[in-house]
Amino acid sequence: MSTVNRAGTFVLGERTVKRLGYGAMQLAGPGVFGPPGDTDAALAVLREAVASGVNHIDTSDFYGPHITNQLIRKALHPYRDDLVIVTKIGARRGSDGSWLKAFSPEELTQAVHDNLRNLGLDVLDVVNLRSMLDVHGPAEGSLEAPLNVLAELQRKGLVRHIGLSNVTPAQIEEGRRIADIVCVQNHYNLAHRADDALIDDLAINGIAYVPFFPLGGFSPLQSSILSDVAQRLGATAMQVALAWLLRRAPNILLIPGTSSVAHLRENLAVAELVLPEDAVVALEGIEAHADTA
Ligand SMILES: NC(=O)c1ccc[n+]([C@@H]2O[C@H](COP(=O)([O-])OP(=O)(O)OC[C@H]3O[C@@H](n4cnc5c(N)ncnc54)[C@H](OP(=O)(O)O)[C@@H]3O)[C@@H](O)[C@H]2O)c1
Repeated sequence: MSTVNRAGTFVLGERTVKRLGYGAMQLAGPGVFGPPGDTDAALAVLREAVASGVNHIDTSDFYGPHITNQLIRKALHPYRDDLVIVTKIGARRGSDGSWLKAFSPEELTQAVHDNLRNLGLDVLDVVNLRSMLDVHGPAEGSLEAPLNVLAELQRKGLVRHIGLSNVTPAQIEEGRRIADIVCVQNHYNLAHRADDALIDDLAINGIAYVPFFPLGGFSPLQSSILSDVAQRLGATAMQVALAWLLRRAPNILLIPGTSSVAHLRENLAVAELVLPEDAVVALEGIEAHADTA
């Protein structure tokens, strides 16, 4: 059995995915803008992920923009039957790399067509509507209008399943009245746990929770508690952070991002890492110290 399988599976839409997946955002150039410094290295990461058994890749056409999806297509097309590519719409990039809201019906429709073309697909497996009411974090406000547009694109057969990203519990409730929501993708990790209650609620409803920035994103997690636990277990701090997420709830799907094959292998090896109970108790202390960690 491949190592990745040991982390278990989850049914996303009607497809079964491994809980250990891969997030492709880091493959674009600095600031998720422009091409990577080393295109062959980026392609190698994607091929290694799938060869290792990963069958859930997270992306967006606004990474690059367009570049990350084009790399996925170049590395992996024609796709393996079991590969689920999850993308997101709702933003666009300014010429300076800024992240701008793109919620008009024209922009949302264009984004779906851009994803289809750049990924080389006839239908997108899962599309997350990424709230841009506040680019930095969930902010209350209705998502009904953009979600209706996405639901219409689903009815036209361009999108199989719908998810939400950067959203509040109220927006998820609103969304579930409009469409079947199969996943939620929000910022969550050992030091950023605002969604603790939401994760448990989604688990009861069979909805996947896919944390972005599982390793801390642009500011990788740093904590003496994390380092101590890692040292004791003969693992790296990043591996412990991922193992904790896998253990946290059965509906959590991991999409750690990396541009390095070595880091990818390290991240996928967490399927074998079992955290003892005393390590879990120690790690629970990280959030309390998050401001100083
Ligand atoms: N919905 C949203 O709004 C949203 C926002 C952000 C991200 N995302 C998605 O979530 C995915 C994950 O988030 P992310 O990539 O931003 O952050 P992340 O997974 O928390 O962390 C990525 C960072 O950690 C480093 N890293 C990865 N593995 C490592 C290892 N084993 N040891 C040391 N450093 C390691 C990477 O550098 P190297 O490249 O050097 O390994 C990169 O700097 C993205 O790829 C994207 O698909 C979604």
